[in-house]
Amino acid sequence: MFISIDGGDGSGKGVQIEFLKEWLDEQGLESVFVRDPGDTPLGDRIRNILLKDPNVEICPKAEAALFMASRAQLVHEKIRPALASGKVVLVDRFLLSTVVYQGFASGASDEEIAELWKIGTVFTQGILPDLTFILDCPVEECNKRLNRAKDRIESKGLEYHARVAEGYRQAAIVWKKNAPGEVFLIDGTPAPEAVFKKIKGILQTRLNRN
Ligand code: TYD
Repeated sequence: MFISIDGGDGSGKGVQIEFLKEWLDEQGLESVFVRDPGDTPLGDRIRNILLKDPNVEICPKAEAALFMASRAQLVHEKIRPALASGKVVLVDRFLLSTVVYQGFASGASDEEIAELWKIGTVFTQGILPDLTFILDCPVEECNKRLNRAKDRIESKGLEYHARVAEGYRQAAIVWKKNAPGEVFLIDGTPAPEAVFKKIKGILQTRLNRN
């Protein structure tokens, strides 16, 4: 089972991931957690270029290619082997992030977005999440929650991040019909425990757990 958590910056992914890891452990399920981008030696270097180096100009297409490269390595080194050995894989972001941030929010056309999605699956060796939880949260609220120094992508401004939020909402509708896995848009504004209750409810039925 391959589970991904996605959503805008400040949508509360971090807390949900902690709850999820704990719950998977409690269920006695062997799981592997990875974050995208990063979590391989190559991916960590690419992550630094993408997020920590404000002086290097990176256009949206190059940005997409770098995220794809990091993800390809992550699938090769960690995700594919873990799935092959029957583990649950939990990932913080995946291909959907590239399609939304570098595609939709960066002004790509519908055709380009569809292409990004298609090319993206080549980089993941066709591996895509069985379940994707998208945390939906108004951009002003997300911005309030990001009460710390911002990285390169987080610094792109409210307008960009409003498009990110809209991109996720649209993706949830479009991909519900087209994606191979299931996609759930979860309201990320209530208290974290209430948000997790919803995620847990969905997981319990998918994994036959209490
Ligand atoms: P990270 O510190 O992991 O942020 P978060 O905790 O919000 O996930 O940084 C990842 C950043 O990179 C985040 O701003 C989203 C962005 N991103 C993309 O723009 N495209 C992508 O394909 C991925 C995976 C992330």
